[in-house]
Amino acid sequence: MNPFDTLLESLRAAVGATHVLTEGDLSAWEQDWRKRERGKALAVVRPASTNEVAQVVKLCGQAGVSIVPQGGNTGMVVGSTPDASGTQIVLSLQRMQQVRVLDAANLTVTVEAGCVLQSLQDACEKAGFLFPLSLASEGSCTIGGNLGTNAGGTQVVRYGNTRELCLGLEVVTAQGEVWNGLSGLRKDNTGYDLRHLFIGSEGTLGVITAATMRLYPLPAAQLTAFAAVPSLEAAVELLGLAHRFLNAGLTGFEVMEKFALSLVTKHFPQQRVPFQDAPYCVVLENSDHESEAHARTQFERLLEAAMEQGCVQDAVVAESMAQAKALWHIRESIPLAQAQEGLNIKHDISVAVSRIPEFVRVTDALIQQSFPGARMVNYGHLGDGNLHYNVQAPLGADAQTFLKEQEAALNALVYASVDQFGGSISAEHGIGSLKRDKLEHHKSPVALQMMRAIKTALDPQNLMNPGRMIRV
Ligand code: FAD
Ligand code: MLT
Ligand code: ZN
Repeated sequence: MNPFDTLLESLRAAVGATHVLTEGDLSAWEQDWRKRERGKALAVVRPASTNEVAQVVKLCGQAGVSIVPQGGNTGMVVGSTPDASGTQIVLSLQRMQQVRVLDAANLTVTVEAGCVLQSLQDACEKAGFLFPLSLASEGSCTIGGNLGTNAGGTQVVRYGNTRELCLGLEVVTAQGEVWNGLSGLRKDNTGYDLRHLFIGSEGTLGVITAATMRLYPLPAAQLTAFAAVPSLEAAVELLGLAHRFLNAGLTGFEVMEKFALSLVTKHFPQQRVPFQDAPYCVVLENSDHESEAHARTQFERLLEAAMEQGCVQDAVVAESMAQAKALWHIRESIPLAQAQEGLNIKHDISVAVSRIPEFVRVTDALIQQSFPGARMVNYGHLGDGNLHYNVQAPLGADAQTFLKEQEAALNALVYASVDQFGGSISAEHGIGSLKRDKLEHHKSPVALQMMRAIKTALDPQNLMNPGRMIRV
């Protein structure tokens, strides 16, 4: 028997033959969400418990076979699919979905890594609590993937990234040992905080099998407004006012440029997009712990002041939950509309909120100089200084050819500009394979050296998602 067959036999014995997939259509695990790359797995292995994950990792370690941890496979940077060698195992956490404990007094929930984000939100809401992490992919991404990427999303302005929501982790190390760090403690200064090494490590250090996450009381009301603004400067001005008028009630602040919204209208004509002629629109959310009437009054005062100042041209406030959902749906449909429009170049950048308008003005001009006709699809989490400053091929151009010929140069231009503005080339999506080589040029040598030291200390065989994020 060849060594791969021996490993597959042992894996079948560990997790059950039906959970070691080697045949049939494996595209759901082998193809990334953006359809940038298609890999080939030796097998897709689907353990059902932490002990099974540990066995799988040990068996792979003995065979020298590398592992790609995978949750919902919605990642944006080609980090959760295998390479093309046919020698990597995809370790899917999909069968580990249980909400283990909800501790109401401690305001925490302990949940397995494969739990789909929306299922966790629903379970918490049913128990009377808010789990605030929210992304457009929440119907399929998993809490393990959210932790693996330190996902951001639309509520960061109030609740922070996934990292800020996590109090403890259970991890299977690269050696197949189980580290139970499922603490619900808010204070614990007993040495290095190991959880933070694994959060955002994109499967390169170990497998997250469960986590203890923070909960919040459900707000009495969540109101959504959609505002037309004359410029990005005006959007930033509105953000300042929203912080002042709503304070901790400001739970969402998303910006969308006119062309990004026009793609939603084009590809999802059933959606009614307000203010289609405005240069930019903003979705704002006000979560209030008093009452809906109070939230509405606060919103009215904010919008009145903003109109007086000229930073809002027009606005609607949702009258019902259904209307609020429809307004959010417009924002969340942009990545899907962009995908329908064709292959595209994504930039997930952050710079200080105050410098966003200047960054866009300067970088737009540079792009149009070097890549005339390139269509900018600009939208994102303005409240966090995070833009999806994306690029679609010029009208009429073949997207595949445009990407092949221009992507590297276009990325170099955008990232040089990000550096000039003191920003980050990956605000929330991570590095994966797509940005790995870029990281070398945009992170300090000292930081890269420390990252490599951590990687080789925790995964000396380089079997955990090798070649992703950082080369060793
Ligand atoms: P996967 O894609 O399966 O994996 C992502 C990475 O995490 C990989 O490197 C993988 O190896 C690693 N990983 C997965 N599970 C584990 C585990 N248990 N242990 C260790 N490592 C693991 N992202 C944002 O940040 N903000 C957004 O607003 C946002 N919106 C999106 C909207 C759409 C429509 C789509 C398709 C994606 C969006 N994303 C967003 C990207 C993506 O959904 C997130 O990165 C999400 O956190 C990935 O979760 P997942 O379960 O799909 O992980
Ligand atoms: C979003 O904010 O919609 C996501 O991060 C997805 C994307 O960048 O397309
Ligand atoms: Zn985003």
